[in-house]
Amino acid sequence: MVEIVPSILSADFTRLGEQVRAVEAAGARRIQIDVMDGHFVPNITMGPMVVEAVRGCTSATLEAHLMISNPQEYIETFAKAGADVIIVHQEVSPHLHRVLKQIKAAGKQAGVAINPSTPVFMLQDMLPFCDLILVMTINPGFGGQEFIPETLPKIETLHRMLQQRNLKCDIEVDGGINAETIPQVVHAGANLLVAGSAVYNNKESVEQTMEKLRRAIPN
Ligand code: DX5
Repeated sequence: MVEIVPSILSADFTRLGEQVRAVEAAGARRIQIDVMDGHFVPNITMGPMVVEAVRGCTSATLEAHLMISNPQEYIETFAKAGADVIIVHQEVSPHLHRVLKQIKAAGKQAGVAINPSTPVFMLQDMLPFCDLILVMTINPGFGGQEFIPETLPKIETLHRMLQQRNLKCDIEVDGGINAETIPQVVHAGANLLVAGSAVYNNKESVEQTMEKLRRAIPN
């Protein structure tokens, strides 16, 4: 089933609890928390304390997207904070198999993210160990960026790889996801659509933006 996954990066942090409850009330069953360390990506955002705070506001599935170096040092911390899914970047995980096993040992779902410059074939041997692959459709670090259309063939290739091997694994996309790009990424094979600025854009209510994005999902 194709789902909109609101990213709180673009939420109003002066009323984060309210904004989390609003997307859940608008039908979100999954929420992404964008963790950035200012080292792997050129921005510093939030950490386990925010995961813990959001955990207390919602029963939605929480994804901790770790855009950080040395993610293996923080798996248990984010697991304890209440993340249900922990996503690490392939580019900073030379021992990716070990990190995925570490996430599973912590009782969480394991995801791997790849940046636009990382070929999807880098993951071919790890697919059986993943619950989710996150194909970044922008260069990570900031919300509100332009969708990179050259990432579409990667999504198609990944979808084919999973189908050929009969592997059950979600394909998530993240970055520039809106009513215009949703049909393209869904046709390419994505089923989890992370949206930040398209959900929390201050011009419309969250109910309106979530409905608009859901309507853009092709049948
Ligand atoms: C950026 C974050 C994305 C971001 C998406 O590195 O990982 O989740 O919030 O923002 P939009 O949907 O505004 O492109």
